[in-house]
Amino acid sequence: MRNIRWGILGTGAIARRFVRGLRSLPKAEVFAVGSRSEASAAKFGDEHNIPRRHASYEDLASDPGVDVIYIATPHPLHAENATLCLQAGKAVLCEKPFCVNAAEAERVVELAREKRLFIMEGMWTRFFPLMKEVRRLVSESALGEVRMLNVDFGFRADLDPASRLFDQKLGGGALLDVGVYCVSFASMVLGRPSGFVGLPHLGETGVDEQASIILEHEGGRLANLSIGIRTTTPQEATIMGTEGYVRIHAPWWRPTSMTISRPGTEDETIETPVSGNGFDYEAAEVMRCLKAGKTESDVMPLDETVSVMMTMDSIRAAWGLRYPGEEVAS
Ligand SMILES: NC(=O)c1ccc[n+]([C@@H]2O[C@H](COP(=O)([O-])OP(=O)(O)OC[C@H]3O[C@@H](n4cnc5c(N)ncnc54)[C@H](OP(=O)(O)O)[C@@H]3O)[C@@H](O)[C@H]2O)c1
Repeated sequence: MRNIRWGILGTGAIARRFVRGLRSLPKAEVFAVGSRSEASAAKFGDEHNIPRRHASYEDLASDPGVDVIYIATPHPLHAENATLCLQAGKAVLCEKPFCVNAAEAERVVELAREKRLFIMEGMWTRFFPLMKEVRRLVSESALGEVRMLNVDFGFRADLDPASRLFDQKLGGGALLDVGVYCVSFASMVLGRPSGFVGLPHLGETGVDEQASIILEHEGGRLANLSIGIRTTTPQEATIMGTEGYVRIHAPWWRPTSMTISRPGTEDETIETPVSGNGFDYEAAEVMRCLKAGKTESDVMPLDETVSVMMTMDSIRAAWGLRYPGEEVAS
């Protein structure tokens, strides 16, 4: 089986880390990079030893040597970039959040399906070995019936109105940046919510700097989410069931362990080793799918990506938070 040739679209912070992750996969070839500027493409190419450098995303998308393109631009560019790549016949791995809203996401998914091309949201946390164990625990009812979740993701960023975290034009705010991990985690464990309540704090640039959200699921099951880009949180996920609970330590950063507690018994720790820098797991899934001729991943299905976007649309609509140029946030 020949190597899979990757193209990298965008030369920012996460693209660097993703490329390092690819280097730990023997069958992955980092073949090309595309940037809005020739200088950035050349610099990134030199730093990461990438043979082909393109001074536009269009040139990258039409490079016949590239099999799959990893999109690492700010969220509001994802739909446009993914459309460009799909129109050029390329498979796509698109950073989270997949798009800014569900309407964009649906259009991209429809195009991929029409063209029978692979596309997946880069929700890298789903692919860590420990998350596989989490899904096993839940499916085997090891905690009894799951009734509640506590999930948080917050970190303190310096307030920089021009940065993608705070600029509305770049899709700033906690929900799209870190909340998406929590909503996606809740979706993985409990499915699509039937309702929610949420309270944000909108900062001086108008984006949600922190928020508390409770998602309501069938049968009164609840997911309690705490998110922030100005607040340091423990970054943990706890799944609580009728027979016990499991605490997943550092779920968003290559987690290696979780602790199960059941009344009247000793705590049990489950450990899983991790390889590479963690980005190799989602990339390996893409490559497995491409080799198998699949157009979507069973671990991060497209309908679920769209469903998560719908949940986030509803939450933002209730907050009155709409991004510039956004058609609908229903
Ligand atoms: N999976 C994870 O752990 C993780 C972590 C962080 C971020 N992310 C996601 O990755 C995406 C990129 O985040 P990042 O932190 O890497 O962002 P970043 O450092 O700001 O880089 C974004 C890159 O996108 C390109 N770009 C295109 N249009 C742009 C514009 N109008 N303004 C700024 N940059 C533009 C630029 O590359 P060129 O100049 O080369 O075109 C830039 O270097 C986001 O959607 C974010 O949610 C994921």
